[in-house]
Amino acid sequence: MSVKETLPQPETEEELKRRIDPARLPRHVAIIMDGNGRWAKNRFLSRVEGHRQGINSVRDIVEIAAEIKIPVLTLYAFSVENWFRPKDEVNTLMKLLVEYLRKELERMLKNNIRLMSIGDEAGLPPEARKELRYTIQRTAGNSGMILNLALNYSGHQEIIMATKQIARDLQAGKIKEEDLDEKLFSQYLFTRSLPDPDLLIRTSGEMRLSNFLLWQLAYAEFWITPTLWPDFRRNEFLQAIISYQGRERRFGRIKEE
Ligand code: FPP
Repeated sequence: MSVKETLPQPETEEELKRRIDPARLPRHVAIIMDGNGRWAKNRFLSRVEGHRQGINSVRDIVEIAAEIKIPVLTLYAFSVENWFRPKDEVNTLMKLLVEYLRKELERMLKNNIRLMSIGDEAGLPPEARKELRYTIQRTAGNSGMILNLALNYSGHQEIIMATKQIARDLQAGKIKEEDLDEKLFSQYLFTRSLPDPDLLIRTSGEMRLSNFLLWQLAYAEFWITPTLWPDFRRNEFLQAIISYQGRERRFGRIKEE
């Protein structure tokens, strides 16, 4: 018997898929795609090369998520803080976004995927904004998975923006103070039309939220992997879903007997 035969073999995609219960899928999976820079550094490549490879993982994960019928997938593609990176890197990320949207439109239409975005769209470069608007409009009639890109997004800014709008609506008499509860507050967020994420995935082993969906992740299950984003592919996504399905979610309560 060879050594290989004695080691436990990794499960195939089909085996992993069979372990997933389609009746208990997370309604919304959010992902912090981290580790592109380290992936590139490990290979003596530029950070930009890491982002380029990261796009292949984006394609893979969007495809497998749609295939297993996850209703909403949110990807943290660009944070408000990311503007402070070197100009070159910021320009490349914006260029990659435009390229991605152009290249993927046909596949989104074929796979019935609807594109959405959260974040301050007005702060994006005109070309990225135009391409984003166009792809959102072209896919608006699709009824399958919602692919939600967080672009120029900040959880703090989202909450402040919501609070300002609530203050204006209170002053204008559109809402009453006694009506303001969690449900109404969440209607002022970018995610108003979406369920809160049930599962948050973060790659590259960091244990941080990085200003992502601060309100919406209140009860999410976290799944953190040391894998760097460019190496994060279909099978590991399926493993995250299996792990999620094995958890007992209590929402701050105790287990029912
Ligand atoms: C984090 O890696 C990744 C980002 C800041 C950007 C993620 C963007 C992409 C994968 C490409 C664009 C996305 C779409 C949807 C078109 P990092 O650079 O912080 O890695 P590091 O922590 O190792 O330096």
